[in-house]
Amino acid sequence: MGNKKIIITIDGWSSCGKSTLAKELASALTYLYIDSGAMYRAITLYFLRNHVNWSKDKAVKEALKDIELDYAFNESSQQNEILLNGENVEYVIRDMVVAEKVSEIAAIKEVREFAVEQQRKLGKKKGIVMDGRDIGTVVFPRADLKIFMTADIAVRVERRFKELYAKNPNITIEEVKNNVEMRDYIDSHREISPLKKAADAVVLDNSNMTKDEQLRFAIDLAQKKLGVPA
Ligand code: DC
Repeated sequence: MGNKKIIITIDGWSSCGKSTLAKELASALTYLYIDSGAMYRAITLYFLRNHVNWSKDKAVKEALKDIELDYAFNESSQQNEILLNGENVEYVIRDMVVAEKVSEIAAIKEVREFAVEQQRKLGKKKGIVMDGRDIGTVVFPRADLKIFMTADIAVRVERRFKELYAKNPNITIEEVKNNVEMRDYIDSHREISPLKKAADAVVLDNSNMTKDEQLRFAIDLAQKKLGVPA
């Protein structure tokens, strides 16, 4: 697709399939994929494990000094996986205990500044697809292509339930629904960088779309930005 490299942002509601699309799009373009939510989840895991009192600014600042986030490429999953102080936490950060607290922690100013700084560094070379909540609005407001994903709440809950049920058959659909709704509410109502569509983002409602259709839609948009003839 030529030498031009762009920044692509994918924001949207919880459990919309942002990371699935972002991963596939990055792979089709041979771009780097970064899951910004994984950073907030890894920070949350650290706070929980170390009993950090996140209602206190000082405790948060001190804790962030001890956190180092990195990515390592996993040959078998063909993905960059997140490392928290050298430990691969890509899978534990998906647990419900982390999901229950992550929105609260992601709303803290110092936590956001810490994560955004790292996200911007990763985008320096372009050739990146990053997904999250504020990537097109705050992290890369001048990104070349911005996609905003949405889907019916019932569809999103069903998708997340299937994913979590595979790991924990005791989980109920109500628990998942409550968590998705709570995260949507906190993410879109917080004071700093709330989830919202960037004015120049393209909306992708995937309630009734297959994964292939979504990928085609995103590749077409990227090719237009890259000047590739249809
Ligand atoms: O995408 P995810 O569900 O893994 O994100 C986990 C939480 O992190 C989500 O509830 C909101 C927060 N988040 C955020 O505030 N900003 C981002 N750029 C990405 C995620």
